[in-house]
Amino acid sequence: SMDIVVLISGNGSNLQALIDQQPDHHYRIVAVISNKPDAYGLQRAQQANIPTKVIDHQQFTDRNAFDQALQNNIDNFQPELVVLAGFMRILTDNFVRHYTGRMINIHPSLLPKYRGLHTHQRVIDAGDTEHGTTVHFVTEELDGGPIIIQAVISVTKEDTATTLAQKVQQQEHIIYPKAVAWFSERKLKMEHNKCLLDGELLPPQGVQ
Ligand code: GAR
Repeated sequence: SMDIVVLISGNGSNLQALIDQQPDHHYRIVAVISNKPDAYGLQRAQQANIPTKVIDHQQFTDRNAFDQALQNNIDNFQPELVVLAGFMRILTDNFVRHYTGRMINIHPSLLPKYRGLHTHQRVIDAGDTEHGTTVHFVTEELDGGPIIIQAVISVTKEDTATTLAQKVQQQEHIIYPKAVAWFSERKLKMEHNKCLLDGELLPPQGVQ
């Protein structure tokens, strides 16, 4: 089995999905780290007897100091994969480079559309009829790393940012554990800024 560390900032519903589906797969969550002391996901981890750690970004004078502390704490657990699950801090290039090919993120949009924040409202404002979520390797380009898998949802006239977030998260809880499982089975890797699944290049849009 493969040891992974999960980074969170909030609710941790994706963490919960990873916890719940862990018995079916070859990954083992060895620690959950939050930059927010009050993140509800910390309680989810404790409930599952997973060690937790808070690295409060507010206690650091700059991004480099925070990222260095974060890196030290992660590396203490010697994970083979770092999983960002609603981790809401921008990471420095040095940090990202340290985990090249072994850190993944989930972003609530159909990348390359809507990098950054407030994706659900931006989808509504644009009048899009499709929306979704993307799992990708983390590279120095913010929300721009190679795509592993996406899930698509349809947007109706009645949708609000809240209903879209619910629909998107329902899909996230399916595709994120799947991507982590692939990596933990060593089926998935990043090479030359591209994704390989079973040695096959993933299409730029990912797969369903
Ligand atoms: C998820 O929808 C995830 O895609 C998003 O935050 C939510 C966290 O929910 N991530 C980002 O916006 C990253 N920029 P969770 O804490 O319940 O897993």
